[in-house]
Amino acid sequence: MLLFACIHKNTYTYTKDIAPILLENCTPCHQPDGAAPFSLINFNQVNRKKNTILEVTQSGLMPPWPADRNYTHFIGEKYLSEKNKRIIKEWIKIGAPEGNPSDLPKNTYLPIKSFIGEPDTTLWFDSIYIEGNSQDHFYIATLPIELPEKKYVRAMEFLPGKNNLVHHMNGRLLNYENDQKVSVSEGERLLDLEINEQEYINQFNQLKLANDDGSRPQQINSAVNYLPGSTGQIYPEGIGGFTINSKSILLADDIHFGPIPKGKWSHNKVHVFFSDSAPKRPINEVMMGTNGVSKIIPPLVIPPHQITSHTSFLEIPEDISVLTVNPHMHLLGKSFKSFAIDPSGDTIRLISIPKWDFRWQYFYTFPTMVKIPKGSVIYLEASFDNTIDNPNNPHNPPQEISERFEFGGAGMRTTDEMLQFIITWLPYQKGDENIRLDL
Ligand code: HEC
Repeated sequence: MLLFACIHKNTYTYTKDIAPILLENCTPCHQPDGAAPFSLINFNQVNRKKNTILEVTQSGLMPPWPADRNYTHFIGEKYLSEKNKRIIKEWIKIGAPEGNPSDLPKNTYLPIKSFIGEPDTTLWFDSIYIEGNSQDHFYIATLPIELPEKKYVRAMEFLPGKNNLVHHMNGRLLNYENDQKVSVSEGERLLDLEINEQEYINQFNQLKLANDDGSRPQQINSAVNYLPGSTGQIYPEGIGGFTINSKSILLADDIHFGPIPKGKWSHNKVHVFFSDSAPKRPINEVMMGTNGVSKIIPPLVIPPHQITSHTSFLEIPEDISVLTVNPHMHLLGKSFKSFAIDPSGDTIRLISIPKWDFRWQYFYTFPTMVKIPKGSVIYLEASFDNTIDNPNNPHNPPQEISERFEFGGAGMRTTDEMLQFIITWLPYQKGDENIRLDL
């Protein structure tokens, strides 16, 4: 009897043991309108994929979280505990039994919905047709916004609608003064980034983002960002927020769609949450590296068949509180690390990505803000792999790849290379270290 109880305990089943693990760790993306190309919400779907599931869970490829959790922690970390990895492995080893249907959790997935709440307004991007050629697709998309008057925004949230194919989206808001631009809706709404340079410049101009006199409008960077499975970005009361003018354009720059075998339309919306009061502590952004305030050493030129290392550093002139960090490289990226050295010589760790994966570029948010004191220096260390051993190398044989400076301040083709580090921060206030950002 004792023996039986013992065996029974170790007989893992889909309904009792696996479904709850997948519910928490996988189905936020692997569901009908999720970002992953297939669902894992019932036994048949999971059973059919069990061999690749074994592979990707044991290797750590899924759930996707390229940042090293032994270096620093962030909100919404995705990982399987060693115990859950072992349960999946054992379950597959004993033949992946389905188990008793009455053991199933109440839900095998939770449909994607707002993480913030009921929005004041929902705005839709024009639908985009994504070609089914099993390739990644990169676009710039614009969403003109007209409001009766200037408003304060507490947060914006990007959500893919039906057919969620979006792999990442970075959105900035261009604010126009009334007399600076007659119409925000005259430009093209979509630009394919996989085109040649001359065509790109022409098409970029057709987006008509400039003021009517050709000058640049006011720009709010990172007004809204999205990555599959990431929760909406809203900070505690008093932190964040911005003003939206009565005429503005939300510029998704860029928006990345994962590969699909069959063409589909992608429908994407933005929830807007207004606020009655002006932002108290609006968020600042600083960008190091390509197009940023600190130069790359040595310059980002990556000869064919070589692995190169580069650094960049920036001295911080005042005490700051860091909210998020976002390393950005393209297809040749190999590894990335950033830390600060404070004036006393101590190291403040920011982020380490030992194995760069261009598909998973989160805006990593710290659980509590990280203070970097005045006089500290922030360093980046990045490496790039331009050999044939890099399966993402866009050229075979490899070609010299370099950084290209953005035309008109936006957009970059994926086959060019970049090294960027975007830091969002506030001027430090006493007690910032204790404010939790994951509320
Ligand atoms: C944040 C979203 C997300 C989460 C969470 C996630 N996946 Fe995925 N998964 C994807 C996407 C997107 C792909 C398609 C490949 C890609 O774009 O990288 C994928 C691909 C896969 C593949 C196919 C890999 C291949 O090489 O063909 C498997 C198997 C898989 N996921 C299993 C899982 C399992 C098991 C979990 C939970 C332990 C999980 N995924 C969690 C988004 C996610």
